[in-house]
Amino acid sequence: MISKEVAHYLEQFIPERDEQIKEIERYAEQHHIPIMEIAGIETMLQLLKIAKPKRILEIGAAIGYSAIRMAKALPDANIVTIERDQGRYERALFYINKTGTSEQIRVIFGDALNVYNDVAKYAPFDVIFIDAAKGQYQRFFQMYEPLLQESGMIITDNVLFKGLVATEEPVENKRIRQLVSKIRRYNEWLIGRSDYETVILPIGDGIAISRKRGEKQ
Ligand SMILES: C[S@@+](CC[C@H](N)C(=O)[O-])C[C@H]1O[C@@H](n2cnc3c(N)ncnc32)[C@H](O)[C@@H]1O
Repeated sequence: MISKEVAHYLEQFIPERDEQIKEIERYAEQHHIPIMEIAGIETMLQLLKIAKPKRILEIGAAIGYSAIRMAKALPDANIVTIERDQGRYERALFYINKTGTSEQIRVIFGDALNVYNDVAKYAPFDVIFIDAAKGQYQRFFQMYEPLLQESGMIITDNVLFKGLVATEEPVENKRIRQLVSKIRRYNEWLIGRSDYETVILPIGDGIAISRKRGEKQ
């Protein structure tokens, strides 16, 4: 991961968000809702502006922050996002209405592992963004990759898990230790997939970008 000094230095260059977006950021902080780190989301938005996807699937909406940021950054894109927590799902709908992005964003309430048929109605997707339960990344990937268009992209957040995947130090907490092992296994599996080209960026909490090679390459 980059040093605290470098991260701090770079933060000054991150553009100011508008008041509605800052309100969602404040709500997330006050209610301990895990939304994407600012450097991570800015990097992902820049990448998406270059790739210009029209259809995005997000697994893990929380209160709609990243979906709204994507909708605002890509006015021609439609986003399907899944959330299993009812309170967060309702908050997401509230902020989506408030920010005028409801034409672009469809929130599906339920566990991502159970709503495949609902999601498939909106396929194929140009981008799939995985940002839900860390222990299930491989299952999400394998379940939804059939809905990705040829040469589409799968983005996974939190793949460095605060740097814990890279440290030799034993992790005390059993749950965290198990998650670290699962993310390590996911990263190794992902890099080993010869039908995708994957790069891991040490930005935010670590972002994996996996580009499907497609038949023509
Ligand atoms: C890190 S948060 C998502 C943050 C959001 N992408 C953002 O940056 O604004 C992860 C969310 O995924 C949800 N989640 C976890 N596992 C899930 C599953 N199997 N199906 C649907 N949602 C899930 C959690 O309830 C949580 O709100």
